Amino acid sequence: MGTTVQQDSTRVRTQGLDPATRAVHVGERPSRPEFTPVVTPIYPGSTYVYEDLEVMDAALGGAEGKYVYTRYGNPTSSALESVIADLEGTSAAVAFSSGMAAVHAAITTSIAPGQSIVASRDLYGATYSMLAGFVREWGCTVEFVDMLDLDQVAGAIERFTPSLIVCEVISNPLLRVTDIPAVVKLARTVRAAVLVDSTFSPLIYAPAADGAQLVVHSLTKYISGHGDVTGGVVATTALRREKLVNFVKMAGALLGPFESWLALRGVKTLPLRMERQCTSAAIVAEAIAPHPLVSRVYYPGLADHPSHDTARRLFGERGFGGMIAFEIKDGAREQVVDFLEALKLVVPATSLGDVYSLALSPVMASHRGLTAGERHAIGIADGLVRLSVGIESPTDILDDLDHALHVAVGRTLHATA
Ligand SMILES: Cc1ncc(COP(=O)(O)O)c(C=O)c1O
Repeated sequence: MGTTVQQDSTRVRTQGLDPATRAVHVGERPSRPEFTPVVTPIYPGSTYVYEDLEVMDAALGGAEGKYVYTRYGNPTSSALESVIADLEGTSAAVAFSSGMAAVHAAITTSIAPGQSIVASRDLYGATYSMLAGFVREWGCTVEFVDMLDLDQVAGAIERFTPSLIVCEVISNPLLRVTDIPAVVKLARTVRAAVLVDSTFSPLIYAPAADGAQLVVHSLTKYISGHGDVTGGVVATTALRREKLVNFVKMAGALLGPFESWLALRGVKTLPLRMERQCTSAAIVAEAIAPHPLVSRVYYPGLADHPSHDTARRLFGERGFGGMIAFEIKDGAREQVVDFLEALKLVVPATSLGDVYSLALSPVMASHRGLTAGERHAIGIADGLVRLSVGIESPTDILDDLDHALHVAVGRTLHATA
């Protein structure tokens, strides 16, 4: 049987006070818990109190390990930040309320109006829009390039002398892999910082080890992994952490304690999930490549993918990620709709990296804003399906894909007969 823990209410002595006062204060603020939970608790408090006002003063002055107000820092978020920094091999990390909040903070704390950015042309849509819209309006020059064409990158760096390069390890939806070490080498010629969005590739590649100063993840995806968290994180140097923390103090896009705790819980199974998802994705990609109703499969682990060699060099034995894209043979938007509707196991929803397999049509979702001509120019066919492979049995996933492909193509044959 457990014993009742006496709560020692710091600074408020409630004995003899009115019930209205006792209802508010009794049971709160245990000053020195005599137990240690195995996992970091959720600290929901927005504000902190200290017995000694000198300590409070130090806390307000930013003393290490002291908390005063959650927008300035929170023990649950700190625990998450420390494990992310550890896994990324950086001195620090700062958590944000979404992946886009993290991207926004990483960009705006790294440049000033009047400076230039060289960015990948096939960045995640919202990042592209932020750079092409808001960041340009803010007074920066933004030059978009094909980040896999290193001559083009070198040319843009020479012409624009950027302060920042923005790229992703694995692009969406064609899964092209950026040669990060080569981009970092080019960036160094003008002392530009390199920001890498590593959302698709946690644990299989650590961009900071190859010289990237800012590594961003949408925590919403693989790191949390269960489709129940919206968050982001920037792993970076101690100096840049200071800037980011000050930015959060002003801009306020912090990750709340509850979401931090969920993400922290997700991290614990990230290695297991990534290993499983990479293995299953490889099985699924290889099995559907010869499927008679599939005309093309994009997976960096397949020898015919244009980024296969780069992926092997960067990822080594850690796998090629859990994302696949494939084209339904002679598929138009209608076949993709029929295919998505016919799925019984794979969930036809946006997002990626969850324990559940998820499928979407880039034409309907991520690349909806582009014209057909623009989509075709970057290689996105109308019949393209993007698949985020979950942790289910790969055999069950393949059976579901096969069934949905036959329903989709069968319906078309029936309609045209
Ligand atoms: C590569 C990449 N970066 C950033 C984001 C934005 O993350 P969030 O939706 O958590 O803001 C996404 C979202 O899909 C993404 O795929």
